[in-house]
Order: sequence, then C-alpha cells, then structure tokens
Amino acid sequence: MKDIILTGDRPTGKLHLGHFVGSLKNRVKLQNEGNYDKMYIMIADCQALTDNFDNPMKIRENLREVALDYLAVGIDPEKTIIFVQSMIPELAEYTFYFMNLVSVARLMRNPTVKNELKLKNMDESIPSGFLNYPISQAADITLFNTTLVPAGIDQEPMIEQTNEIVRKFNSLYGETLNECKILLPDNSVARRLPGIDGNNKMSKSLGNCIYLSDSEEELRKKVMMMYTDPNHVKIEDPGNIDGNTVFTYLDVFANDDYFKKYLPEYQNLDELKNHYKKGGVGDVKIKKFLFNILNEELTPIRIKREELSKNMDYIDEVLIEGTNKARMVAKENIVKFKKALGINYFDKD
Ligand code: TRP
Repeated sequence: MKDIILTGDRPTGKLHLGHFVGSLKNRVKLQNEGNYDKMYIMIADCQALTDNFDNPMKIRENLREVALDYLAVGIDPEKTIIFVQSMIPELAEYTFYFMNLVSVARLMRNPTVKNELKLKNMDESIPSGFLNYPISQAADITLFNTTLVPAGIDQEPMIEQTNEIVRKFNSLYGETLNECKILLPDNSVARRLPGIDGNNKMSKSLGNCIYLSDSEEELRKKVMMMYTDPNHVKIEDPGNIDGNTVFTYLDVFANDDYFKKYLPEYQNLDELKNHYKKGGVGDVKIKKFLFNILNEELTPIRIKREELSKNMDYIDEVLIEGTNKARMVAKENIVKFKKALGINYFDKD
C-alpha cells in the first residue's frame, strides 16, 4: 500500500526558513516523487485558535498568507489537497471521542505542551482547549488514514501521542485506525533551525525569523544581524563555529557549487570552517556568503509569491476546492469510525 501523507501548519504568521528546511522542502519532494496514494496539507486554524482565541483576526489574516507560502514553495494543488481544518466538522467529532482515551496527566506530560506551558508561564490555568490540542492533532492525522507525516522534530511527541490513541482505540473498539510515522529532514541541523539571534528555535513569537516573503533588503539586514561568535572581534582572532548561527545555516544550505559561485577561495565548508577557527576570516565575509546563498534560494519563492498574491481569488479557489475534496474523504472515513463505536444507530447494515 502506498502512503497517505498529511501534515499542517498553524496560520499564526507567514511561514519562515525554519518551516522551509524543517518540513516544506520534504513535502515538495514527496509531492513531486508522486509515490503516494493521497497527499494533504491542512491549515490548522482550529489548533491555532487554541492559543489565540482572544485574537481570531490574526488567524483569519494569516490563513491565505500560509496558502500563498505553500504555493510559492512549489506545493501544487493538482497533486496536493490543501484544506482548512475548521471546515471539516468530522475532525471535531473524532476529537470529542478521542478525549475519552487520554488522561489529563498524559496531556500535561506531552513535551511540546509542557514546553509551551513553560513559555507562557501557565500550569493549571491552561485553557482545556489548548491542553487538548494534541488530541485534535490525532484526529487530523487519523481521520484521513494518514501513514506518513512530514513535519519538524517538534512534532514528534504529537505523533507518539497519536499512535497511543490509535492503539487504545483499536484495543477498545476493534482494529479501525492505523498508526503513522513522522518524516524528518535528513540533515539533522535542518530539523531545528535556530533563529537569527542564535536562539534555539526560529519562531514568530521570538521575533527571530527570516520569512519566505522577506524582501532582498530585509533578508540582507537579517543576515547581517545574525548571531556569530561574540569573542571573534578582529578578523585575525580565532573564531568559534559552535553555536555560531551563520555556520549553522551554512551547514544546512552551503554546497560546493555555492562555493564556486560566491566564495571560490574555498573549496568547501570544511576549509572555510578551519580557516575561521584559526583566525583570519571576518564575520562580514561569511555573512555575505550566506546572504548570497539564501537570496538565491529565496528569490524564486519570493517572485512566485508576489505573482500569486495578485490573484487572491485563485488562492480562495484552491482552498475551497481542496477543502471540498478533503470533506468528501472525511465523510466517507467517519462511517467505520462511528460503526466501531456503535454510534451508527440508524445505518441500514
Ligand atoms: N502542530 C502543527 C504545528 O504546530 C500543526 C498541525 C496540526 C499538524 N495538525 C497537524 C502537523 C497534523 C502535522 C499533522 O505546526
């Protein structure tokens, strides 16, 4: 059996470089290899509302932005079904029954939830909707019989929790749902791209993002601001590459061709790193190199995004059509789910 692929993003802001290397690239690759049964990308507006319920306009404003980002990086609505979470009521139904299968203690132990609680300085005061979002994510995944989830490493606990729910459901109500696997980027650095401030994660709330939609000038400014080695003051000083954000990014993006094109004094990244460690390479030089690389990667995306943004009716069409397709599958798939629970009271069979 071929894979059923599903993944998604919260529409809390435009997508950034962390999304790009952490998941979007893998999605486009999977899509274009075409070796799947169905591929879905969901805009997780309900999930985004669990911690933005006091600002729904933010979600509304970003829904189409995220769709633009998808199409700009090469997601093709002919091949991938892009849909809106809140428009699939079956997801809420699944979530409601799944809530019986998970304890509050287990939700509190979910590392992603735990981390977010810490960031927000919350514990028991947490809205129950937010606490439940891993359950709703399990619904997203299982409703479509997903087997493969291309996502960032921060989603690993969600997949684990989903598979736990699947096993529990199946053991109680009979073999109905299937487990899934996560697909992470091969490059381990790409799995958790730091923000330009060197902070652990690139994240909108930390204000340390490079967005796919950033102009060339914004990109240049951000690269020039990037955190390097604070003790590397003079060019001759030996430099540290560990925790040096520019080198972290180069680990993800630099290849030998880029060296030939933009920094031909070096054959490859190892050479550049060695020289930097010894001393004699300035930060401006490595930043310029990184800027050239990122600009080459992002320019086609930026241009396509700008083109697409001139016709927002088309974006709406894509979302409506994708959602209609997903809804049809959802309606079909929920039948056996309800039957397993015995809540299909008036079905004829
Ligand atoms: N939790 C994901 C994020 O924060 C979004 C998401 C919602 C998702 N449902 C999903 C990802 C299902 C993968 C599969 O970006």
